[in-house]
Amino acid sequence: MASVAGSLRCFGPVALLALSPLLGVAPASAAVSEDSCEIVEAGATWGFKESFRAYISSSIAQGEWVVSGDVGYDTPDFVLTSGSGSLAPDLTSGDLSFSGAIEFLGHGGILDTTLGNPSLTMTGTREALLTIDVTGDTMEELSVDLERVRFATVGWSESDVTLDSESGLWEVRGAVVTLTREGAEAFGTYPPGETLDPLSWNITTTPGCLEQRGLAWGWILGGVAGLGVILAAGMWAIARGNKSRGPERP
Ligand code: HEM
Repeated sequence: MASVAGSLRCFGPVALLALSPLLGVAPASAAVSEDSCEIVEAGATWGFKESFRAYISSSIAQGEWVVSGDVGYDTPDFVLTSGSGSLAPDLTSGDLSFSGAIEFLGHGGILDTTLGNPSLTMTGTREALLTIDVTGDTMEELSVDLERVRFATVGWSESDVTLDSESGLWEVRGAVVTLTREGAEAFGTYPPGETLDPLSWNITTTPGCLEQRGLAWGWILGGVAGLGVILAAGMWAIARGNKSRGPERP
């Protein structure tokens, strides 16, 4: 008599393919890289803090800002270009780094603060840490010259995200940026927890490398359908086996 196990052996490759979503095994063609996806191109826009820019331009500070390297300015945002780094396919780790700086000047040169080389480190699902080099004197007259200050936390929701694994595009619009204690100490004036301007970025990675979210349900439905096919095939094989043995004699 044909057993279910025998039928499964017979349908082995089909069974594996059908079960792969449930076992968490993706077909080899689904992921180009298992470890990280290289950033091919990246840019970001960030106003830093609208009220600070207004203060710098005001009659109080009578200042300006000077951008350098891969940082530009297009009202009301600083525009970062030529970002580099790599990201985990699920976007929960990895780095995006920019070079260049913004120098804020005011009060006839008493205010001279430079924020340089911003870097975004992914720290989990839809969260990151913004690291910046900070140089200058705070309003509390503390002289600062620090590299890679853990300046702000960055958080965003699913609705801020555009993700297209096929082309390698990952965009986040309007992530919330919150000053950390370390950032507050380095910049001065603002307390920890102060909300800075929203941050947006667009990244292109190696095509096909990022995990396409939203596929999970497709995989589950595919797996259930696949199991249905296997069961039907098994039942058919059992029925055929019984038939070929003929009726049992008393
Ligand atoms: C001659 C020295 C300075 C004077 C007289 C001065 C004065 C002021 C005043 C009057 C305000 C309030 C502005 C307003 O509410 O519209 C202010 C705000 C501020 N100042 Fe200064 N300041 C000085 C130096 C500095 C320095 C060296 C820094 C370092 C970055 C600094 C950073 C700030 C910041 C971050 C704010 C808050 C801006 C905002 O978001 O509203 N100031 N300052």
